[in-house]
Amino acid sequence: MTNIAPIVPSDKLEKHSILTLGIRIFTVPILNMLPGSFIKKIMRRSSRDASDVIASSGSTQSLEVMYKRSFQKSSKWTLKYMANTFWHTVVSQPKALRNRLKITKSAIDHNVLSIISNPSEQHATNPIRILSIAGGSSRSTIQVVADLKNNGVTHEIEVFTIDKDQAALDIGKQLAMDAGVSSNFNWICGNANRVGTLIHDKRFDIIEIVGLIDYFDDERTIRLMKVARDVLYKGGIIVAANVMPNSEVPFVHKMGWPKMIYRTHKDLEMLLEKSGFTKTEIITEPLKVHCIAIAKNECS
Ligand SMILES: C[S@@+](CC[C@H](N)C(=O)[O-])C[C@H]1O[C@@H](n2cnc3c(N)ncnc32)[C@H](O)[C@@H]1O
Repeated sequence: MTNIAPIVPSDKLEKHSILTLGIRIFTVPILNMLPGSFIKKIMRRSSRDASDVIASSGSTQSLEVMYKRSFQKSSKWTLKYMANTFWHTVVSQPKALRNRLKITKSAIDHNVLSIISNPSEQHATNPIRILSIAGGSSRSTIQVVADLKNNGVTHEIEVFTIDKDQAALDIGKQLAMDAGVSSNFNWICGNANRVGTLIHDKRFDIIEIVGLIDYFDDERTIRLMKVARDVLYKGGIIVAANVMPNSEVPFVHKMGWPKMIYRTHKDLEMLLEKSGFTKTEIITEPLKVHCIAIAKNECS
């Protein structure tokens, strides 16, 4: 395996149907124009999921609502069902987040398999080590480890998740327990600024930074990426995502989501280059709301 980015089959990712695209032509400009207070009111009143997202905007809890897409459990053609369908499928954000999750999972999976089939010197004595910075529930990594285990792969994998929110880590702990992979995970409550001290002298094969640098300016992002590169093995991989400029930006902020820094795939590539990564491959998810970079540390 020479490519560091996985091939994610297009039919595994969510897109808009022709009908949805038609509905979006008039609904997205309206959502962008409406006052924030009104948007929050209709979201709270129309759907439990939408209400939960605005109650904890930007947090792992709000992402989990969108990842789980719980509206599927309600019965069809009620007003609630239609409102949930609107928030989950006509608005791009939840679909794009689920795409980001699938691409992140594939990127981690692809590179873990690559290590298993072609281990380096350090793997003679060390497990495959993954670090998730601002990892929240670590849903993507939990799925990777659980799938490998279910497929009979016995290679030792050790995951460290750092997040400043204990409640986010508790969601992850429960998910890992439900998936039967608790023993692979270490949950560390702390700030990303303190990565070096939080993980002591450990080095990693893969580092995931998803849902964090959206909130960091260029200088802070480069500082974090350099610290991440320092704790990667030579040949190690970083998986980092950033939100892109998109047509729903005014709506997203009016619903109360914290301020984000929108970057193109070229901006993200440039930040990784300035942080010392010489090989970067970028996947843009089909709705063009998130791009995911997979970059290799080619230095010792
Ligand atoms: C948008 S969520 C992303 C969670 C997860 N990476 C995912 O993609 O599902 C952002 C997470 O970053 C955490 N976070 C934000 N700033 C942080 C910081 N400076 N240090 C550690 N965690 C941070 C939040 O607590 C939250 O759980």
